[in-house]
Amino acid sequence: MMRNLQGSETLGAFSEALDLALRQQASRLLAPDSRKSDKGLRRFTIREMADICFRMNYNTLRHHLKNIPDLPQGIMEPGNRRTFSLEEIHEVQQKLFDAGKIPAPLYPNKFEGEETAKLLIYNLKGGVSKTSTAVNLAQFLAMRGFKILLVDLDPQASCSDLFDIQADLDGTPSIYDVLRYEEEGDGEARVPIADAIQATYFPNIDIIPGSISLTEFEYETASAAAKGIPFYSRISDALSLVEDAYDVVLFDTPPHMSFCVIAALYASNSMLIPLSAGMLDVVSLVKFLDLASSTLDSIEGVDPNKRFDFIRILLTRYSPNDPAQLQLSSFLRNTLGNAMLNTDFLASTAIADAGNTMNPLLEVDPSSFTRKTYDRILESLHGIALEIEGEIMTGRGRIPETEGMN
Ligand SMILES: Nc1ncnc2c1ncn2[C@@H]1O[C@H](COP(=O)(O)OP(=O)(O)OP(=O)(O)O)[C@@H](O)[C@H]1O
Ligand SMILES: [Mg+2]
Repeated sequence: MMRNLQGSETLGAFSEALDLALRQQASRLLAPDSRKSDKGLRRFTIREMADICFRMNYNTLRHHLKNIPDLPQGIMEPGNRRTFSLEEIHEVQQKLFDAGKIPAPLYPNKFEGEETAKLLIYNLKGGVSKTSTAVNLAQFLAMRGFKILLVDLDPQASCSDLFDIQADLDGTPSIYDVLRYEEEGDGEARVPIADAIQATYFPNIDIIPGSISLTEFEYETASAAAKGIPFYSRISDALSLVEDAYDVVLFDTPPHMSFCVIAALYASNSMLIPLSAGMLDVVSLVKFLDLASSTLDSIEGVDPNKRFDFIRILLTRYSPNDPAQLQLSSFLRNTLGNAMLNTDFLASTAIADAGNTMNPLLEVDPSSFTRKTYDRILESLHGIALEIEGEIMTGRGRIPETEGMN
């Protein structure tokens, strides 16, 4: 008897069955808000506004809210707790800045002539928290008032999923449609970058989604390169049309080297390398750094002026209670010194859970974790965002090079 061999139709059937079931489950779980983005973002307390958004003393902020005219006052919730939407918070921030209550190094938006920070979050290795870093960093910086454009360069598009934006399912343009090579007679054409940008439910965060079609960019680039069409500048050329509107552009990347990543490397002016806290991860980091160095070397060959404002390494999934990891962390700091961020991205159930609940930290209700769990990871992510902010402000020249902000 012939064996019942399987192939493309098997995988196709799996995909269809799962996709249908996921959609049904989503509509049951979330009905009547069938999509996460319909629910909007939670509201924030004055304490959060002071600590995370403004980096201002709590009592000073309360004083301003009482005494400066025309500031939004939020709403009073049960328990005599005043809460604000993030839009209201940013209105307060702008008015406090206009009233001279926020100094320039703490004011997030660019001044005339300042450059947009373009940060590549990259490591060849899979599962080292690239996407978790990109999403949480985007949210903490957006809370602070920075205007963020997230560019999802991963065909798996997890980053877009976390913002409930699914180019493949919704039929909206993805970064592929922006980067693709227009073929004569090929029905579909390139999409202007502005048309591929989508607002998210998180104020101050826009996204250009990833999609599975990004894999096609790789094939197309290979044949375009044979015809002498350069690909290095494809992302930076497109980005130059829209980047003025943003304080920070963040690239989330796939766990491999690709033409797309090289074009993003060329478009960036800073790099953050997430490294998870294991010996094997450090060993593969060595190989990654070698590869990244020679890739950058060939980019510098094309553009000798290509320089980065900063290149830093972030230790991720770090458990300071594990003696081996503690040792690894001090080994890395001894060896790499300032290249390591001072703050580590701690391992936390609150982050692992986001993979299931689809809620990055700032979207969860703090009471859904123990106070200690929530505070630990909040402090970790906040610390990381502050260090990156320090780099951005140094790049803008608002704080001196040597001083740092921490
Ligand atoms: N600090 C953390 N604590 C606990 N779990 C984490 C942490 N960071 C990431 N994770 C979990 O590990 C998994 C991989 O994380 P993430 O998707 O951020 O990595 P990645 O580098 O983007 O992966 P890929 O290479 O596949 O794109 C996810 O399920 C995520 O929830
Ligand atoms: Mg990822």
